[in-house]
Amino acid sequence: MRRDPHSYADDSQVETASLALRARVDFASKTLAAEAQLVFARPGGGRLDLDTRDLAIERVVGPGGELRFTLHPAEPILGARLAIELPEGTPWVRVHYRTSPHASALQWLEPAQTAGGVQPYLFSQCQAIHARSVVPLQDTPRIRIRYEAELAIPRALKAVMAARKVERTETGDDAIERFEMPQPIPPYLFAFAVGDLAARDLGARSRVWAEPAMLERAAHEFSDTERMIAAAEELFGPYDWERFDILTMPPSFPYGGMENPRLTFITPTVIAGDRSLVSVIVHELAHSWTGNLVTNANAEHFWLNEGFTVYAERHLLEKLYGADHAALHAAIGRSSLEEDLARFHDRPELTRLRTHLAGVDPDDAYSQVPYEKGYAFLRALEQTAGQDAFTAWLRSWLREYRFRSATTEDFEAHVERALPGMLARVGAREWLDGAGLPANAPVPRSAQLAAVEALGSALPGDRELASWTPTEWELYLARMPRPAPEATLRALDGRLTASTNYEVLVAWLQLALESGYRAVVPRASEVLGTVGRMKYLRPLYTALASDPATRATARELFARHAASYHPIARQVIEGVLA
Ligand code: BES
Ligand code: ZN
Repeated sequence: MRRDPHSYADDSQVETASLALRARVDFASKTLAAEAQLVFARPGGGRLDLDTRDLAIERVVGPGGELRFTLHPAEPILGARLAIELPEGTPWVRVHYRTSPHASALQWLEPAQTAGGVQPYLFSQCQAIHARSVVPLQDTPRIRIRYEAELAIPRALKAVMAARKVERTETGDDAIERFEMPQPIPPYLFAFAVGDLAARDLGARSRVWAEPAMLERAAHEFSDTERMIAAAEELFGPYDWERFDILTMPPSFPYGGMENPRLTFITPTVIAGDRSLVSVIVHELAHSWTGNLVTNANAEHFWLNEGFTVYAERHLLEKLYGADHAALHAAIGRSSLEEDLARFHDRPELTRLRTHLAGVDPDDAYSQVPYEKGYAFLRALEQTAGQDAFTAWLRSWLREYRFRSATTEDFEAHVERALPGMLARVGAREWLDGAGLPANAPVPRSAQLAAVEALGSALPGDRELASWTPTEWELYLARMPRPAPEATLRALDGRLTASTNYEVLVAWLQLALESGYRAVVPRASEVLGTVGRMKYLRPLYTALASDPATRATARELFARHAASYHPIARQVIEGVLA
């Protein structure tokens, strides 16, 4: 039976326990030439269905030699099923293949797209269902694998992986880098990057990687990392992944962060110079427990990853930076939720926490709903059960499902066992299976938050101008009614268009464009040519495209920059402009 709508993996077939990957990284052809050996938990026979996308399969072998296989025609969302015939008692298979230059998980950057400008760069981004474009495997988070990997790369470059580094050897123009991942992971956490990379230690178990030109600034920005790990351990128990390293990505990285185990990937847009955007690090760190240890069984239960992680993130923010700061984040989150509930107005079924995604691409379903509605639900549950009882429940949930995957039904059963009656009292059915935001959603409150909210579309006074943090600015801009008064926009322009804090800058540009204040079009165009983070591309392209006066500009900008955007970002913006 197939238990994940986004995978051909069938639970009546053999199950992969580990992967041994050897790949040659060829920047000239933008392909990996690779062999992947899949070792099964128990030897078996019959058919094995693997997920692939745009892979050229050359041969498949087992211990007894060549195996018969069929690569079926590609389905638009799932990709192509690779069906292999296994003789009884087969312990492993090895697939020899090449990736496509258009592999959806990979971005191949020209030297001009990097900070250094001299060397090319390659990185992967596998969540939710792109691992199959790099490795043929059972690409469902229901199955966890250990792996070892050997990457052949140009000698001038370094490779990093979300894994333990074993060794580097050099021969001629090549270097071979070897890694092993002793902790079993869902396939979407498979990750690597190759480029001109250097590292600096941040603490005993963390270091930051970046291109040399970025390294100092990154190390300064992320100096709180060790303190964050310690705070998270107090909340959740021991950190199970040995190291928490950070890779500062090139600007085209399509997400804010990605919780690849042992090596979180982070957009360079968080490097504001004043550490004001490090909540992204806190979030990815929190995934070390919620998501990486306890993993959504498939994308239909994505809120178990993200809602829990936002809940953990805000607890940690409170502990590290105070209750006011955490409340501002919660309020900003609530605004982004309202925005996405409106965006999904015509697809209310995607605003449930428990979703049904057969025939739906997880990248198209992506929104703030699993994050912020998930967060609000857990806060409602926390209020209903009481802080101590809820924290105890959370710890027992993490203990029971450690290194396993979970569904929303598992969650319901576990809460009901530990906190009987609580699901009914909080109205869990409506939260999980209803569209939109239930009326008992807790409202974030704090004095600092109330002061910002009280301003509405009035201009901040001298006291605010002198004291506001970027987070207060962000909330002020998010809460401003649209269209905002022209006088307000003109007064803000001088200060905000020059902002180097991307969250503030993009919130401002979005507000201005949505209010028809076109003086910011040049700055917005500049941003769209500099960064590829979807959180920024989507609102700016959407705002430009909805104003008839700037619709053509949106099209031109996309035509100019599409080639430098990540394949996933490109697809999303194509949807916005269609
Ligand atoms: N795991 C996500 C990123 C992701 C989700 C990638 C789904 C692909 C598919 C990551 O942990 C995340 O949530 N990143 C956020 C930042 C965070 C501070 C909310 C982002 O990228 O905006
Ligand atoms: Zn996340």
